[in-house]
Amino acid sequence: MTTPEGPKPVRILFSEDAIRRRVEELARQISSDYAGKGEVLLVGVLKGAFIFLADLCRKMTVPRRVDFIAVSSYGDKTVSSGNVRLVLDLRGDIAGRHVLVVEDIVDTGSTFSYLLELLRLRGPASVKTCAFLRKEKGGPPVDYVGFEIADEWVVGYGLDYADAYRALPHIAVLQVNG
Ligand code: IMP
Repeated sequence: MTTPEGPKPVRILFSEDAIRRRVEELARQISSDYAGKGEVLLVGVLKGAFIFLADLCRKMTVPRRVDFIAVSSYGDKTVSSGNVRLVLDLRGDIAGRHVLVVEDIVDTGSTFSYLLELLRLRGPASVKTCAFLRKEKGGPPVDYVGFEIADEWVVGYGLDYADAYRALPHIAVLQVNG
């Protein structure tokens, strides 16, 4: 459905409840994997990961800190330019630390590839990846994934279309054409 205001979310894919349960499971799994390793630094990729990161870090049980990084590659479009640019760097040093990069969604994987290359140069003890959603189209391996989804544009729970719909409590599919 396309209206004069632009495309609208048409179908709920994951309810608020389903999201909460899956985030709790992920937090348990991550906490168990990092148990005894010291502190984990959760690096949220802005803006999309802000709600997922907030929920995930509150459910984790191992020592953790939070930092943020921001990149840009889509602009207001729904197709990746493949050209990732750093727009905001971390506040802190990551040398010798266990870093878990937290993204809202992995599509082509360009964002994760770019960030992994950048962060590994800074000498962390380890770098792992966590994405709330991953499109099933053979992107790069991701250590922790909330849900695999089809190749559709989704919004809500932090994810946007042209910066709209981030505050929806559920994940919905956006019908961009038609
Ligand atoms: P990638 O670099 O192609 O993996 O794209 C990852 C980034 O693109 C995510 O962090 C989102 O900002 C954005 N993105 C990709 N697909 C979607 C979507 O379906 N909805 C909202 N944002 C998306």
